[in-house]
Parts: sequence; structure tokens; C-alpha cells
Amino acid sequence: MIVKDTIADEFNEFSKNYTEDMVKCVPYYLDLLNCFTEELPKNFQPKTILDLGCGNGNVTNILTQMFPDAEYTMVDASQDMLDFCNKRFSNYTINLVNSYFNDFSFSNNYYDLIVAGFSLHHCTTEDKKSIYKKIHASLAQNGIFACSDLMIDKTSEEHIAHLETWKAFVSQNFDDTEKWTWLMEHYNQFDRPESTIDHKKWLEQGGFKQIEFTINDTYWAHFKAQKNA
Ligand SMILES: C[S@@+](CC[C@H](N)C(=O)[O-])C[C@H]1O[C@@H](n2cnc3c(N)ncnc32)[C@H](O)[C@@H]1O
Repeated sequence: MIVKDTIADEFNEFSKNYTEDMVKCVPYYLDLLNCFTEELPKNFQPKTILDLGCGNGNVTNILTQMFPDAEYTMVDASQDMLDFCNKRFSNYTINLVNSYFNDFSFSNNYYDLIVAGFSLHHCTTEDKKSIYKKIHASLAQNGIFACSDLMIDKTSEEHIAHLETWKAFVSQNFDDTEKWTWLMEHYNQFDRPESTIDHKKWLEQGGFKQIEFTINDTYWAHFKAQKNA
């Protein structure tokens, strides 16, 4: 497998066997997907939901089981991923938007829930800071932003050990090293994970006061941040 030039082309290709590849390449993938519903406050009933970097819709899929009547807006740079979502969610109210996050117009005070599963690590530091501000402005009062992702600084000392642990996980799931080699090429070209400390700082700068890291098993983490008055 060869990495492509853009995020959109890369994920058009990745869309072909997406979920199986994610389960085999991302430790805790299914646990971190489940956090999107399990970690929400009881009685939280979002009517408007934005899925940033929806991919093939695995986060939205979990949400539709709890909130079948909500309106879903799903944003992704990959048209192939959106085409898949169009068929997958034909029984739900969905708006599909083919856009990079930087070009997406976030509605003000609109969404009850904004989710991002394994997508924001593709953004630069400056883009993450700017997106967190936009997400805060786009949430309705008491709205929640929830995110699952890899959260480690690539320049940190612990990153080398992290790569070893990750490689051991991926090696268990594939007979040869081809997938790990591709994964590292993808990681070097497209992935910019950052630490939980940085995420918390940028969320606070974006306006969030209530932030909880509910899973932080090694560096595969989930957080939720609520917009308060
Ligand atoms: C690893 S997939 C995650 C998909 C899904 N959310 C999940 O949890 O499995 C990342 C997705 O985010 C999209 N993506 C990454 N960076 C993006 C950006 N800057 N703007 C729009 N979409 C982006 C990719 O096209 C891809 O479909």
C-alpha cells in the first residue's frame, strides 16, 4: 500500500476495508467508539449532532442507536466515505458535507452534540486551536463536544515506547509487516497527535470550563467538554 498525497485521497482508498483495518490497527478502537454514548450524561437528549471527520460513520452509527430522531450533520474530506454514509444512514435525517474542517461553516449556537472520532489528529496545532473555538461557538448552551483519539506528543520521550507498544498490537493482527509499514508512512505524512495536556489547554482557550478525560488508557483517549453559561 502506498500513501496518497491528500487526506481526501488517502481516506477514499482507506474506505474500502475501513472498520476491519481500524479494529486491527487502533488499540481500544471499539472501546473508544462506545465512549461516545457511554460517557454522555444520563438524560442528555441531543437533537442536533455534528460528526467531524465522520469517515464511514462508525461514531454516528453508535449515536443513531440512542438518538434515532436526531438530525445528523456529517463532515468529511473524503467523498467516498460520505457516499458510504449516504447508503448506511438512509433511514435517518442526515446532512452530508464534503469539506475540510477549515472550510466548513459552523452554525452558531446550534449543535447539542459535536463528535470527532480519530479525525482531529490530522489537523495542525493552529488548526486544532481554531477548531476548538469554532466548536465552542457552534454548540448550543449545555452542548457537549466529545472526542476519541490518539493523544501523545510525537516529540515526547514516551513516544518511542508508545510506537513499540503500538507495533506489537498491530503485529498480532497481521501475518506480515506490510500493514505496519503502510501505517507508519500514513502516520508520518498525515498524523499530528498531541498530548491530553495540550488538548485541555486549547479547549480552555476555546471557552470550555468543564472538561473530563474519561478514558486515558496509555495514549488512546476520550474526552468530553461541555459548554456552560
Ligand atoms: C481515521 S478516520 C475516522 C473516521 C470515524 N470518525 C471513526 O471514528 O472511525 C478520519 C476521517 O477524518 C477525515 N478527515 C481528516 N482530516 C480532515 C479534515 N481536515 N477535514 C475533513 N475531514 C478530515 C478523513 O477523510 C477520514 O474519513
